[in-house]
Amino acid sequence: MFDLNKLIRENIKNLKPYSSARSEFSGTASVFLDANENSFGSPLTKWYNRYPDPQQLELKNKIASIKAISIQNMLLGNGSDECIDLLIRAFCEPQKDNLIICSPTYGMYEVNAHINNVELKEVSLLPDFQLNLEGLENAIDENTKLVFLCSPNNPTGNSLHREDIEILLNNFEGIVIVDEAYINYSRSRSLTAELKDYPNLVVMQTFSKAWGLAALRLGITFASGEIIDVLNKIKPPYNINGATQELVLKALENLEDVNEMIKETVAERESLVNQLTALAIVKKVYPSDANFVLVKVTDANSIYNYLKEQGIIVRNRSNVLLCDDCLRITVGTFMQNEQLIKALKLFNS
Ligand SMILES: Cc1ncc(COP(=O)(O)O)c(C=O)c1O
Repeated sequence: MFDLNKLIRENIKNLKPYSSARSEFSGTASVFLDANENSFGSPLTKWYNRYPDPQQLELKNKIASIKAISIQNMLLGNGSDECIDLLIRAFCEPQKDNLIICSPTYGMYEVNAHINNVELKEVSLLPDFQLNLEGLENAIDENTKLVFLCSPNNPTGNSLHREDIEILLNNFEGIVIVDEAYINYSRSRSLTAELKDYPNLVVMQTFSKAWGLAALRLGITFASGEIIDVLNKIKPPYNINGATQELVLKALENLEDVNEMIKETVAERESLVNQLTALAIVKKVYPSDANFVLVKVTDANSIYNYLKEQGIIVRNRSNVLLCDDCLRITVGTFMQNEQLIKALKLFNS
């Protein structure tokens, strides 16, 4: 049986959270002398002198209406990277608990485990980049608090089989985090629809990819109200700055433009895959549900260096598990992809 109480670290359970000026008073008033802000204004927009809403209610309500998920099931982070760190700090006791990642995958789960001095167990994906359920079963022990999954996975590009994720959710008494940073490019549906069925499911999404707002740093964690309450207790009071709240709220009015960009990205991805597949230096293009493709080439290091000399930067993943001689290439615009393919055609090994 899943019991959240058993998973929360003792010090977090006992924590009395910081109470900020802006969270102690909410309502209308005309004179705010409670937060040691600059009462005279700011060199920028007038209201930048004020601390932002620590609970980002306006922004969350807007996201809630688009996603049809209650704000009680939502925590905003300074990028998903902050959400990853909050989850580890809430649930993993350093030098005692452990978490599991399914390699090859996004690097920040590992880095944040190390920063927090939490043991990391690595279970390799299968050769087709799907979950190794038997490996996971063997790796899980009584101190395993979190399993990080990424679907579509970075750097492999594939979505994980939903049935596999659900088998894990049904059999693991810790928390399963599914990082859906690239979900908007995927043929698979988001797992947010399953939140009500699985109290141990956490889904992360971000505004850094399909929404094109990487510079603003906004990630979302979706989970049960109980899990969100724990994360809220430990998040820095003003973790989402005022400019980000204002600008993302504005961006959310442009859902149609974003859907158009997603369509364009997917079309360019398919064209890029076809063109890459036709090149002699390309051994394999892995199927992608994301806005990048993983490509196995004849010699990743020399092709990477050659492209760099041409002013084209891709990600060399050849030192990563299961990714020998692989480059990860982000889908560019039509012109950028054309430039890439032209350069690759001129590469002499
Ligand atoms: C799988 C995955 N999760 C999270 C992130 C980072 O998201 P954010 O910009 O919201 O911190 C990335 C960025 O590359 C990613 O690939």
